[in-house]
Amino acid sequence: MYIASTTAPVNIATLKYWGKRDKTLNLPTNSSISVTLSQEDLRTLTSAATSETFSEDQLWLNGKLESLASERTQMCLADLRQLRAELESQDDSLPKFSQWKLHIVSENNFPTAAGLASSAAGFSALVVAIAKLYKLPQSMSEISKIARKGSGSACRSLFGGYVAWEMGVEEDGSDSKAVEVAPLEHWDNMKAVILVVSADKKDTPSTSGMQTTVHTSDLFQWRIKEVVPTRFEEMKKSIVEKNFPVFADLTMKDSNSFHATCLDSFPPIFYLNDTSKKIIKLVHAINEFYKETIAAYTFDAGPNAVIYYESQNESKLFAFLYKLFGKVSGWESKYTTESLTAFTTE
Ligand code: PMV
Repeated sequence: MYIASTTAPVNIATLKYWGKRDKTLNLPTNSSISVTLSQEDLRTLTSAATSETFSEDQLWLNGKLESLASERTQMCLADLRQLRAELESQDDSLPKFSQWKLHIVSENNFPTAAGLASSAAGFSALVVAIAKLYKLPQSMSEISKIARKGSGSACRSLFGGYVAWEMGVEEDGSDSKAVEVAPLEHWDNMKAVILVVSADKKDTPSTSGMQTTVHTSDLFQWRIKEVVPTRFEEMKKSIVEKNFPVFADLTMKDSNSFHATCLDSFPPIFYLNDTSKKIIKLVHAINEFYKETIAAYTFDAGPNAVIYYESQNESKLFAFLYKLFGKVSGWESKYTTESLTAFTTE
């Protein structure tokens, strides 16, 4: 039996991917940017094994046997096997992994109840573990195109730190890949606190939500043509220059722009709830109070908030958060002293 393991972090977009121009290949209608959180906090650990004796492909997810039958997973496995077969055709001495079945074991180190999308880290770890097992020579950006087919945002979890997913223009997706903007160490005082407003499964899954928006929202057309291309360049620059106030404003505006296109979809899609809206107001009030932008919120396809801040401002931010939410559970969790603090507000 041959085995390889890897970890992949959860990434939270600061410039949102919302809209597919090709549903099968997961090709986006706009480029996006994410910040990959430290692997100590939120990550998936995946091991992939192969042997001539395995009779079927199998996946154990957090200790439970799960199906590998989804079309998306099958596409990733087929691409990886194809690349391995190319290697085997060039070197006869290589074992024929491309023809053997796989056993995959995957575990998240964060509570599933935290309401965080785990598919990005999951697909990223799955693809990278198999690529390692197969000893594929391709770069991480090349491999990110395979992870992208599993879950669009998964392509960004192949890198740590600050990552851009370049949408590309080709119909076959050959230039739609993730690239590193800067490593984690470049801006190592960046931190995130996650406010778990609700741990429920999201109301409208991202794929169907995106389709509704693409087909019905006029605002969406404006967003992808007139807003995101400039914002993409400005956000990358703010990261390179470690300019928190600019990065924060762009992050908050982009979260609001994405949720505005959801509201402009027909029928409308609501991901934010009243608690989310209170958190938005609170962050603006905190920034106004200090007369300086020290915190930035962002919301994905659900009501939970991720607030980015720089470590030197932690006590300034937490003074407010703790006063308001100190009585809810989660503060006593192991994350309290680390970069992540999860707590429930409902
Ligand atoms: O990759 P998906 O299908 O889970 O979509 C992710 C969509 C957002 O999380 C809302 C935005 C993003 O860029 O991650």
